[in-house]
Amino acid sequence: MLLPSPWRQFFPGMQAFTEQQQVWLDSAATAQKPQVMLDALCQYYQNGVANVHRAQHAPGERATRAFEDARRCVAHWLQAGTEDQVIFTKGSTEGINLLSHALAHHLQAGDEILISAYEHHANLLPWQQLAQRQGLQLTVLPINDDGHLDIEYAIHQLSPRTRLLAISTLSNVIGHQQALEPLLTAARDMGIWTVIDGAQSAVHQRPNLQQLPCDFFVCSAHKLYGPDGVGILFARKQAAQALRHWQFGGEMVRHCDYQHAEFLPAPLGFEPGTPSTANIIAFAATLVWLQSLDSSAIAAHEAALHAQLLSGLQARGMQIIGAPNCALVSFNAPGVHHADLALLLGEQGVAVRAGHHCAMPLMQHLGLSGALRVSLAMYNDGTDIQRLFSALDQALEILQ
Ligand code: ALA
Repeated sequence: MLLPSPWRQFFPGMQAFTEQQQVWLDSAATAQKPQVMLDALCQYYQNGVANVHRAQHAPGERATRAFEDARRCVAHWLQAGTEDQVIFTKGSTEGINLLSHALAHHLQAGDEILISAYEHHANLLPWQQLAQRQGLQLTVLPINDDGHLDIEYAIHQLSPRTRLLAISTLSNVIGHQQALEPLLTAARDMGIWTVIDGAQSAVHQRPNLQQLPCDFFVCSAHKLYGPDGVGILFARKQAAQALRHWQFGGEMVRHCDYQHAEFLPAPLGFEPGTPSTANIIAFAATLVWLQSLDSSAIAAHEAALHAQLLSGLQARGMQIIGAPNCALVSFNAPGVHHADLALLLGEQGVAVRAGHHCAMPLMQHLGLSGALRVSLAMYNDGTDIQRLFSALDQALEILQ
């Protein structure tokens, strides 16, 4: 059965792709945008713009109010409690880089940072570089043949030397939602800083940060049907107080003379310079719209498409990477280089991601030079999956 998507109509980019005979199956890289986001963006610019937090005039007040309303919307969507725990960044990558600098003074030579074997470079390299700078131990939690973490084993790895745990809730390669609560609780009980990379998972499972026992959480607007260049760093109130300022400039200062300065606390103290005001306001509009949709219907739709995708790939003898349970499947065709297959799919108008997916160490661990990845969003439908399978069959006939 070809599952229809009731939400496809809200995404002009998907309609354009249909006219271009293009199939979009790369939403884990970036998602298409709903009309409501585009409207909010245009409306902000068309009404006359002003900078935020630095003017007494009416346009400045209006922009500041809209900007701070957006912060409240984001906090509400994250189920995070107060909005002063929301810091706007450029994206998940910047959020993790911020933390790797702003927490550095709490770590000393010999201390340990724990990550998992499936981390994206964004949640590996900032910690790796910090470890190199300060003589820390970077320990990698292993994954099993399904590509999942053994949570009990991970809990046993926590030791008095462990100072920070940084981990993703959904690997961008394995596509498995990992339930981390017991590990996070154990880490919290031992006074270990906890950082969650929610870049891939947030769009498929709305975070509940009052329940998730982490200190910090990052995600990116562009994977959440929002604009490019905006990210969220949630910093729980007490944890935020431990952060040292890391970038310096306008609007983050309480007082400054030529030789000294005092800085504002989070969030403004960590948002120097002019923020991405229009995008942040449009992102908030996107989140409000998302909350008006039936999230369980979307989850059921994505799960049904995922099951079709997985079984169709298995039926064709594809080598699936790990045991995915959410929104994406990475795979290789036996005896075929992933880049050749991606090229032939691309020529038939099917967009999937191919390569190391910014997770080179994971690929090395799996003994692979790369893989293809098909990823889904609410606007995909059964026709997209069918087009993928026809293109795959044609490509494999040529390549195998
Ligand atoms: N991190 C994004 C991906 O996995 C870009 O494609």
